[in-house]
Amino acid sequence: MNSPLQIALIGAGVMGRQHFQHLSKLPDAQLCAVADPGPQAAVFAAGCGVPYFDNHRRMLDQVRPQAVIVANPNNLHVSTALDCIAAGVPVLLEKPVGVHLDEVRELVAASAGYGVPVLVGHHRRHNPLIASAHELLASGVLGQLTSVTGMWQLQKPDSYFDVLWRRDPGAGMLFTNLIHDLDLMRHLCGEVVQVQAITRNRVRGFANEDSAAVVLEFENGALGSLTGSDAVAAPWSWELTSGENPVYPHQPDQPCYLLAGTRGALSIPQLRHWRYAVAVAGWHQPLISEQLAYEPAEALDRQLQHFIRVVRGEACPLVDAADAGRTLALVEAIRQAAETGRACTPETL
Ligand SMILES: NC(=O)c1ccc[n+]([C@@H]2O[C@H](COP(=O)([O-])OP(=O)(O)OC[C@H]3O[C@@H](n4cnc5c(N)ncnc54)[C@H](O)[C@@H]3O)[C@@H](O)[C@H]2O)c1
Repeated sequence: MNSPLQIALIGAGVMGRQHFQHLSKLPDAQLCAVADPGPQAAVFAAGCGVPYFDNHRRMLDQVRPQAVIVANPNNLHVSTALDCIAAGVPVLLEKPVGVHLDEVRELVAASAGYGVPVLVGHHRRHNPLIASAHELLASGVLGQLTSVTGMWQLQKPDSYFDVLWRRDPGAGMLFTNLIHDLDLMRHLCGEVVQVQAITRNRVRGFANEDSAAVVLEFENGALGSLTGSDAVAAPWSWELTSGENPVYPHQPDQPCYLLAGTRGALSIPQLRHWRYAVAVAGWHQPLISEQLAYEPAEALDRQLQHFIRVVRGEACPLVDAADAGRTLALVEAIRQAAETGRACTPETL
């Protein structure tokens, strides 16, 4: 029986504290220190009964944790993770992996060079319903994947934008929210080779987008669309339909992703698999559908359990820095496409 893995937390804000809630339920890992220069963090560390540091480098030197969770602001992700890697400490790094592709390339090289794993917190991939969807798609039962539809349509309350940086370019729904949907689309449907996009700010009038329409061409030939808005009274988003996070009222009957192939289709999160009952298919024939079974479980719990296996050398990261970098490259291509009005290709990593 292994002794509990000693995990430090760098960045004890909203997300860092959520990680702590999940960590505190696991028998095989425990929090050993908190590093965060913010005014509330020392109180939080005291409440958890662990040493507090206002500087993560000092924490790494003095505590020598076996692993860290990094949930500080996006622009500090790569530099913080590089410090952890240099200290030989595996990292669960919140998404986005970084803010520029060049810094992500540096991170990928450091992780490989030091042999220290980085797991990036695209936690939805750990949701068992996504694992089931992934398995179905990988089985080929949908035939040739042809048409991919994603929706992220909901309403953020006006008070969300009282925090002024949330109105700035780069802090809009594309980098904050659609990045999750785009990561899942890559995970389920494969790499994207070309995008076209329009973003607008007509509802809120801030410097960043409140709506977006994205056209995607996948490497396997499938074509897709992702439409999003954070200013509409609508239920079609992962947040509202999946029930993953209880802070969002659940709309279990509505989909957020529709994936169609030549022999079948899948709606998510319902996991309803559609197909023809007869061999000679066509629009005059009835479609039948069945719901795939899966065992619900907390995605953040599963992500942490997976991280522990990664740290113990029992698994490779489900989402490593290079993989998360490809999601960032896709978001960056969409930003460029919206800015230039041209089709753009995501950079390779
Ligand atoms: N996976 C998800 O669904 C999800 C959801 C929300 C946020 N996030 C990510 O989590 C990260 C944190 O977001 P948040 O909403 O918790 O923000 P937050 O502002 O609530 O927390 C950030 C924390 O980092 C601290 N911090 C600032 N500088 C630091 C430094 N140099 N070293 C250590 N800590 C420092 C701040 O004091 C603050 O406590 C972001 O990268 C965000 O993208 C992910």
